[in-house]
Amino acid sequence: MTTAAAPETAAIIVAAGRGLRAGGGLPKQWRDLGGRPVLARTIEAFRRAPAIGRLVLVLHPEDRDRAAALIRPEDLIVSGGDTRAKSVKNALEALVDTNVSRVLIHDGARPLIGLDLIARMQAALDGATAAAPALPLTDALWRGEEGRVAETLPRDGLWRAQTPQAFHFAPILAAHRAYPGGAADDVEVARAAGLDVRIVEGEEDNLKLTVAADFARAEAILARGRNMEI
Ligand code: CTP
Ligand code: MG
Repeated sequence: MTTAAAPETAAIIVAAGRGLRAGGGLPKQWRDLGGRPVLARTIEAFRRAPAIGRLVLVLHPEDRDRAAALIRPEDLIVSGGDTRAKSVKNALEALVDTNVSRVLIHDGARPLIGLDLIARMQAALDGATAAAPALPLTDALWRGEEGRVAETLPRDGLWRAQTPQAFHFAPILAAHRAYPGGAADDVEVARAAGLDVRIVEGEEDNLKLTVAADFARAEAILARGRNMEI
């Protein structure tokens, strides 16, 4: 008698962007952060997470050589698309016909992700089809016009979204196949397909490196001892 492989959770790490807003010559996920490439740190966090059975790395074809030292034989390597959503879809399609039943989809440019948050996102899927980490907005919120405050907006109920966003595999695959394109993140894709997305408390340190100044902030967080072993 043959037994099917047990269902497992995959981490999809999207790292095929070009990092135009951060500048700096090299795409941001390949730049140095505390002595190691940003992406090496992101990958290491998921390798250490007990809940993650498999890694899918979404890379730009130009970056394959750079990535060689970070890849293990058991990893799935997928080429990115020209938008984040297409990069994620390519990764999901690569998991069809595997035993993966849950996915955590994470930005390669968030290297300070904590093991605790990874575990909490995986656990959230025990009681939900989809879950995403976020922090409540605490600053006042304005719309500006020509350097002046044109409007103050209520911030009640507003959240700052993070990754990893977590999904049961079949519904998020179907949602991406149906989505016309242009989504900022996978929650947008999921909601367009009618999925209910549970909010899980995120981590302040889990910032996305987006502009040049974010590197100094991330270095300061590392210097405090955050993810020291990674
Ligand atoms: N990403 C991707 N494929 C794309 C675009 C983005 O895999 N076509 C990934 C990035 O590598 C990053 C994450 O999605 O890890 C979040 O995207 P973002 O912060 O916007 O990164 P970039 O698109 O690289 O940066 P920019 O928008 O400033 O060019
Ligand atoms: Mg982008």
